[in-house]
Amino acid sequence: MARIPLEDNFDDVINKAQRGLKIADADLAKRAEVTPEDLAAVKGGKPIDAVIRRVARHLRLSPDALEALAHKRWYPQQPIFPTGFAAFNTRYEDMTVNSYVIWDARAKVAAAFDTGATCEPMLDLLRAEKLKLQYIFITHTHEDHIADLARFAGGTKAEVWSHEIEPVALAGAKTFKENAHFHLGPISIKTLLTSGHSPGMTTFYISGLSWPLAVVGDAIFASSMGGSPTHFSEQFQNNQKKILTLPRDTVLACGHGPLTTLAQEKLHNPFFAR
Ligand SMILES: [Fe+2]
Repeated sequence: MARIPLEDNFDDVINKAQRGLKIADADLAKRAEVTPEDLAAVKGGKPIDAVIRRVARHLRLSPDALEALAHKRWYPQQPIFPTGFAAFNTRYEDMTVNSYVIWDARAKVAAAFDTGATCEPMLDLLRAEKLKLQYIFITHTHEDHIADLARFAGGTKAEVWSHEIEPVALAGAKTFKENAHFHLGPISIKTLLTSGHSPGMTTFYISGLSWPLAVVGDAIFASSMGGSPTHFSEQFQNNQKKILTLPRDTVLACGHGPLTTLAQEKLHNPFFAR
């Protein structure tokens, strides 16, 4: 697969942090002791290191990680699963969105996470590997993540599951609470409520594959995070408490952007590197 670009540039990270912490431009410039012109240039994408580092400190971002992102010095090393895991990146309007399939090669059973813009490549995989799709898990019900759900669920007869407080994905879909457990042959799946970006957004923590795996939806991205201007701190705290505490070798399968690992994010994500 072609290299998937990082979801956010350094200026997106600055803008997200600033909106989330509700600090106005004038206030930020004053606190960071930079000129309003320099701040505007950086927020417009111009990588001025001294300004980036000063601003980072006042937005609780790692100056080193933010500077590395600004100069595109970092891209996550891609984890390899010999079998049992596949990632799909499909185009939805002006962006791309990820969806994932996990399976047990012996029991020939599979589970999908979201549908992306189209489920066609996932159907191809299920046919090629002769897998029975048992579950379609929904990280959150934003349109780009469930765009092809009716066809995917109808064609596979898989059960559709999402968190009980997330807006309904599809008529007949089932709901879980936090800390629900599912099994797929020898693979186990646990639900963690990582809300913020959406009310019931769920991270699925999966054991039994080559690596521990967390399908995180839009909670966290390689070198950035999701969230919304109104629920930034909720998202940040859930990420800290429920994702950053997972085993360091956990692979993070994000709703947008490339795969990453927790160990890499602890070093390179401006929001979480310390
Ligand atoms: Fe999304």
